Amino acid sequence: HGTMKINDLGHLEVGGCDTVDLAKRYGTPLYIFDETKMRATCREYYNAFTEKYHNAQVLYASKAFLTTAVCRIIEEEGLGLDVVSGGELYTALKAGFPMDRVYFHGNNKTPEELRMALDNEVGRIVVDNFYELEILDALARERHCVPEVLLRITPGVEAHTHDYIRTGQIDSKFGFTLPNGQALEAVKAVKEKHVSFRGVHCHIGSQIFEMESYVHAVDVMVQFVADIKRETGLAVEELNLGGGFGIYYSDGDQPAAVEEYADMVMARVKEKTEEFELLSPRVLVEPGRSIAGPAGSTLYTIGSVKEIPGVRKYVAVDGGMTDNIRPALYQAKYEVILANKADRELEQTVSITGKCCESGDMLAWDVELPQTEAGDLMLMPCTGAYGYSMANNYNRLTKPGAVLVKDGQAELIIKAETYQDLIRNDVMPERLAKKKE
Ligand code: LLP
Repeated sequence: HGTMKINDLGHLEVGGCDTVDLAKRYGTPLYIFDETKMRATCREYYNAFTEKYHNAQVLYASKAFLTTAVCRIIEEEGLGLDVVSGGELYTALKAGFPMDRVYFHGNNKTPEELRMALDNEVGRIVVDNFYELEILDALARERHCVPEVLLRITPGVEAHTHDYIRTGQIDSKFGFTLPNGQALEAVKAVKEKHVSFRGVHCHIGSQIFEMESYVHAVDVMVQFVADIKRETGLAVEELNLGGGFGIYYSDGDQPAAVEEYADMVMARVKEKTEEFELLSPRVLVEPGRSIAGPAGSTLYTIGSVKEIPGVRKYVAVDGGMTDNIRPALYQAKYEVILANKADRELEQTVSITGKCCESGDMLAWDVELPQTEAGDLMLMPCTGAYGYSMANNYNRLTKPGAVLVKDGQAELIIKAETYQDLIRNDVMPERLAKKKE
């Protein structure tokens, strides 16, 4: 896992930092981000697409994990940014991220969000539906600007992944549906609007391992590009294939190499566009999980243990579904490491639970650990994507902080929340406050 190793003390190190020291200094739970690993993956993507094919660009899907420091790393590595809300856009703005490299997604962008995107001249707006097209058209006319847009298409491609993170199938809330002709209607409508049509986008799902799903998506999309040309005369300059490249979480996950994915996609786009005698479009991909996921891990302290003889042993940690909801939401599987005793033998099968008042608050079922005692540290690797970004305050738990580690140095990139943060937005109406006096 990234730059993890076991040191002479038997402690797990990440990015050259001893996890026992990190726990002492920053407390737990703590998200740890391995900068070296994250940059290495960005470079893998950059080299496999942009460097090798020129006519290809990589956008980091910021929903996976975004802070101002992350924006800076992504910028330095030469990637663009996919944002899906005013909040993500705001973060990018505050970090000084170049707005022309920003793609704005979302199935229900508000007029305020669209205004914000136009004010700041984001690179592309990925229009999801007719309602959005109307608003954007009105705003653009009002301001005498011509936003450059892509259309989000639901290609009708089924990817093999969890139902909740599948998006390419026809019955999806996202985008203009291709198979029933809605997508072509959308392109025709765009022609009449105060926007500049640049191309099409699709995203078939997340945590995908079968490269054939992408090949299938390319086939369907390039066919559509040909239809667009024939029916409207419009050229598609950009073909954005979304994200979804799977990562290793636990036994059985076998991701392909990024380069293999790139070569496969690029070769297929070339082959298909030549077949239809089309100009080859700029190809974009939007990896989120594969960039942030393997770079992040979560460090917890073990507390109570409940053993039900012959049934199960529950080992509780000081976080849970508040800092990583993925096991509860998608039955996602993770591995665990006893970070302060990483050199010990695995001696028991336990299930890791959180501290929320909810039976579904589980982080891992039936994983192997050495003997544990209260105060031990447990590290869960690969939580970098959709961990912090989906964190919540259930039971009024405070969100953990995050450190960036590199070459033995640790720096805070997110402060841990405090109890004061929890009541920061609470408002006590005058009359209720009075009653007490
Ligand atoms: N582009 C679009 C338009 C997307 O909707 C997504 C993810 C991505 C790119 C990035 O996909 P990735 O490379 O990260 O797979 N919360 C779920 C994942 C939801 C993904 C939503 N869209 C999870 O924790 O598994």
